[in-house]
Amino acid sequence: MANLSNFPLLRTRAFINGNWCDADSAATFPVTNPANGDLIASVADVGVAETRRAIAVAAQAQPLWAQKTAKERSNILRRWFDLVLQHQDELAQILTIEQGKPLAEAIGEIAYGAAYIEWFAEEAKRVYGDVIPSASPDQRIIVIKQPVGVVAAITPWNFPCAMLARKLAPALAAGCAVVAKPASETPLSALALAALAQEAGIPAGVINILPGKDSAAIGGELTSNPIVRKLSFTGSTAVGKQLIQQCANDVKRITLELGGNAPFVVFDDADLDTAVTGAIASKFRNAGQTCVCANRFYIHRSIYKQFSEKLIAAMKQLSVGNGVDSGITIGPLISKNAVEKVQALVADALEGGARIGYQAELNKAINGQGHFYPPTLLLDVPRNAKLNQQEIFGPVAGLVVFDTDEEVIGLINNSEFGLASYCYTASAKRIKLLSEAIESGMLGINTGLISNEMAPFGGIKQSGWGREGSHYGIDDYVNIKYICEGF
Ligand code: SIN
Repeated sequence: MANLSNFPLLRTRAFINGNWCDADSAATFPVTNPANGDLIASVADVGVAETRRAIAVAAQAQPLWAQKTAKERSNILRRWFDLVLQHQDELAQILTIEQGKPLAEAIGEIAYGAAYIEWFAEEAKRVYGDVIPSASPDQRIIVIKQPVGVVAAITPWNFPCAMLARKLAPALAAGCAVVAKPASETPLSALALAALAQEAGIPAGVINILPGKDSAAIGGELTSNPIVRKLSFTGSTAVGKQLIQQCANDVKRITLELGGNAPFVVFDDADLDTAVTGAIASKFRNAGQTCVCANRFYIHRSIYKQFSEKLIAAMKQLSVGNGVDSGITIGPLISKNAVEKVQALVADALEGGARIGYQAELNKAINGQGHFYPPTLLLDVPRNAKLNQQEIFGPVAGLVVFDTDEEVIGLINNSEFGLASYCYTASAKRIKLLSEAIESGMLGINTGLISNEMAPFGGIKQSGWGREGSHYGIDDYVNIKYICEGF
């Protein structure tokens, strides 16, 4: 068990109506460190009854929160942002021990999550309505925006702080109250954020956090309870589809940030050093466990050899290990299952004719402990390998060769996913072509890092609905009401 006194923000009980609560059954579940299997904490394992209670208190708290002026809500969110940054190091340490990512990345994630709180503290003041010219002289058309009400948020383990902040901040800015279910692998970051939200003055019941192992039961209540008017979910497409069905009964509004299969394309005129830097950043962030990670690499035949040699040289600089140790750039995967899935995808590619271009050796100190997979480069990956069709969610890059723009645009768009894409080229004409032709919600041109609070994050096709972040991000949490005033 972690020494809890090192982490004053570490909470192990559910947060309902401003109180820290045990599960009704007194049950707990273990949260373990994926780098070594150590038990970090035993956390309250809540279920349907607690979820129902949290929804009821959120419904009571929401109108009072919405009645505050936008500026009051903004000031409270701003205080929360300040507190998150003041506790950045401790929050990052909690994040690293429960999720595994290297401490430097965890520090970055806390700043990234905080940036959404700061952004929506500002946006709270800009939820403008409209006055629209009317067709009739004795009528006036007014549009106002109102909070959707009680929001359910279901968040993933890969960004336990930032994905929750990205949902809570716009919801609260709009005047909603939230009942959130963090992933059972990583509830501690969410609970620590809630502790700081309380300290910042967010009233009881406006944020409720439900740790629990039985995601289906908690999610079932969140999606079937008619008080909940909206669901925001980040996670797999398969679960997203189930949640859509579950929300259909009440016609709840839904924001979904689902799976991706990001193509990373290097054209013959690209600056190869820039492309390699982008490939490392995009592919190996969080050990390859992000929805926007480069997943399929398409490399123009004329620079294929040069690019792969440069990529191997850069991959040799990656250092795998426990994220709390200094100099580590690749942490463990989240679970044994995750490692086995990556192993199976690599085996399938090799069977199909791919070759290993590079595979790091795992340090003896970690080998056999924790859920590690070595950074791996596969060459000559067949286009139809499973690796190119499914999210890898691991530190494996597989290169595919291409010859023409038309061919590669066809390959890019031949996917049911449409979250992020990355292209490297110096040609303005080609950039225009790609910007219009590529079917994805986000496109990085000559950059491998595209996520920030100012930009609309989200996908098309089976990668989801709605946008998070940016000035569009608050739209998902407001209802538009049109008022026709007659005179
Ligand atoms: C995700 O993997 O779901 C989010 C990644 C990001 O925000 O950059």
